[in-house]
Amino acid sequence: MANVIVVGAQFGDEGKAKVTDLLSQNADVVVRYQGGANAGHTVVVDSGTYKFHLIPSGILYKGKLCVLGPGMVIDPQAFLKELGGLMERGLDDSGLKVSATAHVTMPYHLILDAAEEDARGPQKIGTTKRGIGPTYADKCSRTGIRVEDLLDTEVLKQKLEYIVPRKNVLLERLYNLPPLNAGEIHEQYIEYGRKMSKYVCDTSAIIFNSVRERKNILFEGAQGTLLDLDHGSYPYVTSSSPTAGGACIGAGIGPTIIDRVIGVSKAFMTRVGEGPFPTEQGGEIGDQLRQIGKPWAEVGVTTGRPRRCGWFDAVLGRYAVRINGLDCMAVTKLDVLDEFDEVRVCVAYRDIKTGERHNELPSIAGSIFSRMEPVYETFAGWNKPTTECRSFKDLPVAAQRYLNFIEEQVGVPVAIVSVGQKRDNTIIIEDPIHGPKRVLTKSTKF
Ligand code: IMP
Repeated sequence: MANVIVVGAQFGDEGKAKVTDLLSQNADVVVRYQGGANAGHTVVVDSGTYKFHLIPSGILYKGKLCVLGPGMVIDPQAFLKELGGLMERGLDDSGLKVSATAHVTMPYHLILDAAEEDARGPQKIGTTKRGIGPTYADKCSRTGIRVEDLLDTEVLKQKLEYIVPRKNVLLERLYNLPPLNAGEIHEQYIEYGRKMSKYVCDTSAIIFNSVRERKNILFEGAQGTLLDLDHGSYPYVTSSSPTAGGACIGAGIGPTIIDRVIGVSKAFMTRVGEGPFPTEQGGEIGDQLRQIGKPWAEVGVTTGRPRRCGWFDAVLGRYAVRINGLDCMAVTKLDVLDEFDEVRVCVAYRDIKTGERHNELPSIAGSIFSRMEPVYETFAGWNKPTTECRSFKDLPVAAQRYLNFIEEQVGVPVAIVSVGQKRDNTIIIEDPIHGPKRVLTKSTKF
């Protein structure tokens, strides 16, 4: 039995879906614990390509329990559309469970997300406009609607009669937008509740019982460490806790049941939306990393926006190891570097204001983080395809050196390497779940 958290170690879009798909084979329960329809997880299997937003990719395996945990925010329309699409393709919903206490993204959240972004002008965050920030804001303000409320017509009516007039003040007076009708929303969302009701339950209890039955549980993070509300590049973050600690709160389990934390990083780095990105590359290198036109092009799964691309940042890698307590890493998309004459890794930062060198991120505070410029080490590229490699020693020597360097820099082993989109384009260097556990010592690098 092993209970494993998979988290993004960068700015999201690290290729977590491929890693969770791989690990789902041996999991009995797959749990999403935060975020909502802002996520976009692509999995390529023999029967085709699947793009997930809200539903755990574990649904691809018949018989797994797939949980949408209480820390998520669920847009019922998006959920039902995604589920309908999966069922049309023959997938089975018998293991699907939705937390009664997850919060619901309502129509006013979607409208306000877009209106707030427009109003921010040059200070915009570049959100996915899926209503994520406003839904979590209402949760914190204790004016949120939870999934359970969609199952109770009287409760939902009372809540909407209080909330909608207040939202309409914002819509009409602040944003000059038309008001919403509480009655219409009530009717529509009770109908969504009716359609969702068979999946709704206390998911925390299900997970706890699975732990007692010594089942394997996989906690699937969305977004990434640098997008974490507390530990990311605030304010250019999402509104949830994608980091490992967030799994406990968002799934409703205690930290003592967690056996492993696996961080997923691309072999380079990407970001969608605004915010600091020290190793970002414009021009030809950025375009080459973006691989536009290829099936794995760096384009956001949810929004279709081109991703900003840059070199692997080992300073942020060490930060992700620290914040998540990573045991090991999975490095994805190594094959994207196959055609580069040289590749670079950021090993430290230089403060553009003081000239000082920092081997560690001095602070994630925006005023300091945005002053950091990368100090690189440059390596010869391998200029050979890696997609057919199935073991570490199959890889070109320069690629092996590159991975060894990343491992040494971030301070945890690289256990998995992905060299292509398909399930079998994968190299397992060491067992990510049962391999040696990382032990913190005085000399452990952070
Ligand atoms: P929000 O989560 O839609 O509020 O967006 C906040 C920030 O997180 C923006 O920069 C988004 O581009 C980014 N973001 C949200 N979800 C994802 C994701 O799944 N992958 C990558 N970036 C994301």
